[in-house]
Order: sequence, then C-alpha cells, then structure tokens
Amino acid sequence: MAVIALKCPHIEVAVVDISVPRINAWNSDQLPIYEPGLEDIVKQCRGKNLFFSTDVEKHVREADIVFVSVNTPTKTTGLGAGKAADLTYWESAARMIADVSASDKIVVEKSTVPVKTAEAIEKILMHNSKGIKFQILSNPEFLAEGTAIADLFNPDRVLIGGRETPEGFNAVQTLKEVYANWVPEDQIITTNLWSAELSKLAANAFLAQRISSVNAMSALCESTGADVTQVAYAVGTDSRIGPKFLNASVGFGGSCFQKDILNLVYICQCNGLPEVAEYWKQVIKINDYQKNRFVNRIVSSMFNTVSNKKVAILGFAFKKDTGDTRETPAIDVCKGLLGDKAQISIYDPQVTEEQIQRDLAMKKFDWDHPLHLQPMSPTTVKQVSVKWDAYEATKDAHAVCVLTEWDEFKSLDYQKIFDNMQKPAFIFDGRNVLNVDKLREIGFIVYSIGKPLDAWLKDMPAFV
Ligand code: UGA
Repeated sequence: MAVIALKCPHIEVAVVDISVPRINAWNSDQLPIYEPGLEDIVKQCRGKNLFFSTDVEKHVREADIVFVSVNTPTKTTGLGAGKAADLTYWESAARMIADVSASDKIVVEKSTVPVKTAEAIEKILMHNSKGIKFQILSNPEFLAEGTAIADLFNPDRVLIGGRETPEGFNAVQTLKEVYANWVPEDQIITTNLWSAELSKLAANAFLAQRISSVNAMSALCESTGADVTQVAYAVGTDSRIGPKFLNASVGFGGSCFQKDILNLVYICQCNGLPEVAEYWKQVIKINDYQKNRFVNRIVSSMFNTVSNKKVAILGFAFKKDTGDTRETPAIDVCKGLLGDKAQISIYDPQVTEEQIQRDLAMKKFDWDHPLHLQPMSPTTVKQVSVKWDAYEATKDAHAVCVLTEWDEFKSLDYQKIFDNMQKPAFIFDGRNVLNVDKLREIGFIVYSIGKPLDAWLKDMPAFV
C-alpha cells in the first residue's frame, strides 16, 4: 500500500487495523516491521496520501477499492485441521464491509486464500448488501520479504482475477489502471477469479518444490562426495531450469510456503485427487526431513549428545534482511536441540528476545493469529539465552550453527570465535555462506549442507 501511495500520488491510501499499538507504530518513527527501503517510502507519503488508522469503518465506508489482507491461518482444530485455511478473519472482514458500506465497492483479495474463497466472500457480501454492488477481485501478491520494495517497483507480473461479466471486466480494468501507473501493461495479467487464486498457490508450491528438490540432492551429495553448489550451478545453467532459487539450505521457512502447500494439498483431497495431494505433500516432507537431518547431524557429530552443551545459533529469522520468524527453520532446529537438552545461545541482528521466546513456546500455526488472540505460554524456555552480539553468543560454545544467511556472518572474526570456544569446535553452516576451507584451517570441524564431509563427520553418520 505504501508503494501504491508513492507511485499514485492522486490516490489516497488508508491502511486500517483494529490493533491500536500496531497503527501507532506505523504512525511513529519505529515501524512495526523491518523491510529495507520501506521506512523511506512511508516517511515520504505518510500524512500526504498514505494514512494509518484504527477507524476501520470510516475508511472502508469512504473507499472505492478495499484491499483485504487479513490473516488466513492454518486451522488447528475441526474439519481440515493442520491443512485447511481458517477464514474466520476474512469472513468477519467481509461482513464488516457489507455492514458499513453505503456505496458500490471493489473488494480485492490480497491475502492468499484457498481457491474459491472469492465465491464465498461474494456470497456474504451479496446477501448483506442492502442494494449495494460489490465486485470481488483476486490480486495475489508475489513480493518476497527482504526484497519487497524492489519486487513491488519492478514485478515480474501483476495478476488480477475477476468475474467474467461486464461489471467484472470493469472492476479488473479499474485495478489495472492503478498498477499501470508504474507497471508496463503487458506485465499485468488478467484471468478469471479461480485462476488467479490458484496461480498464487501454484507459484509458491513450485518455488518451494525447487528448494526441496535441491535439498533432497544435498543429502545425496553428502553421501556420495558431490558438492550441491556445483550440482545446482550445473543444473541451473539449463535455461529451461534457470539459476535462481536453487540454494540448498537447512529448509525453507516463512509464512507462506508451508501454509500454501498445505492448503493446496487440502484442496486436492477435497476434489478427490489424492495422488496430486500426495505429490505436493512430499515438498513439505522433504523440508521437515532436511531440518531433522540437520539436528541429527549436530547431535551425532558431537558424540551423540548435546546435553548441557552450549550451542550458539547465528540467525533466527527465516531469511536475511527481515526480522520475520514465522515458520523459520530455526524454530524446529532449536526445538530439536532443546529436546536433546542443549543450552542454546542465539544471536540475530533483527529478532528480539521476546519474539524468540514466544516462537519457542508457541504451538505450530498459532503465530498466524492476531497478537491479542495468540495463546501465550506463561513459561520462558530456560535453556535459551538471547545475545546482541555474535561473539557473546558463541563464547564458550561447543558448536555454532548458522541458520540465517545474514551478510554480517560472512565477515565475523572466526579465529576469535574459535579461540573462545570449547574444543573440538564445531560449525554447522545451514546456509552455505561460510568459507569452509578457511574455517578448517583455523581448526573447526565444519559441516556445510550438501558439501563433501569432514573425516570426523564421515565417522559419525547421522541417521534420521
Ligand atoms: C515467498 C515467495 O518467494 C514470494 O514470491 C511470495 O509472494 C511470498 O512467499 C508470499 O507468498 O507471500 P518469502 O517467503 O518472503 O516469499 O521469501 P523467499 O525468498 O521465497 O524465501 C522462502 C524461504 O526459502 C526462506 O526460508 C529462504 O531462506 C528459503 N530459500 C529460498 C532457500 O532455502 N533456498 C533458496 O534457493 C531460496
């Protein structure tokens, strides 16, 4: 919305939320999320044509176009638990829009939702419309965190789905004109509603599948002595495959990939396509396998126990340049190590101690509810400490694990880190960002995903 405000000075954008602290933060100097480049844009537009408000009803009533970007968590109970999307927040947003509206509106689905949600929302709006006309559009977002602003300035494509009726086409055209202020028209794709909704799930499933494919190869590389970086490079030079998104890692995280694939799996099952469901489920299974494999590698290398050993975790966010920890592989790795009674010391340049404690205490999927509805565990995890410096976190540690590819981890003084650690000193690089040869020269025992193994690690096979 900030980018729309920047690129369309003639459009007034109001961002509304029922959370007072969140809106206050958007109106302050300390924005509630870290995203490179966002602060500048917000400061440039705020108070001119970009407003943040808790007066939801007023702004919805006045708007011509309403973008709905509410949470769509994975259901934890009831029908479809663990797979289906919980549309409670979407449904109440639709009811509120119907309630307060006094003029015709275009309602845009911006949250990623299961296919055919638009139809359900349309029904709610139509049955409560008091004669007002609503057009529903699906306009899924393809930006990635950490590069959001660049992605929005220069998107590969913008996708708009709508009803194939004259009113539907008009609504699509109206939204297209908003994006056409900065996106070339041939990059604005228009489809029917269901294609737009499904394309979003499909795009994320394909992206996640690439990571699971390369991660599956990483396991085979370790067993055979091949190097996954070399394999990925060789594979990616085929122009039909392409070089991007082939970095082996400890596993993918983030708020979207797993949730969207679970959704896709559920939709396939509901449509009587169990083989298709099973096919996509494997992408998640390999991701879970990769995280388990990483934990097992740590434990087995360290004489099959990390009980009371200090393990330093560098990076907790699900990727670099974000403070977002939703579904970060660090949660599963830390929980795995805690299960083996390790003492964990964590440093991440953007994630707070409060967030880390909440993540490690929270049940799966609970993160996707608004803060005030998240069940809070009263206990903090005592074996976990959070430091504001990598040297502090690694002091006296038996092992260091790199779980986020923050640039600053590449240029740390690893000699100094080694000197202050217990011996033998281990490094487990879950992002393949460190200079393995240099670390070995210093004296570390190094494990790097999908790379030829140290003699030490070969002697201590990890079993999943
Ligand atoms: C992802 C998609 O890339 C966006 O196109 C989409 O709009 C977004 O989900 C969404 O649905 O909202 P995001 O989750 O922000 O974006 O970040 P990604 O860059 O896709 O990374 C996801 C995870 O995959 C991270 O944990 C990252 O470290 C991991 N990853 C990525 C790898 O392990 N290897 C790679 O080669 C690339």
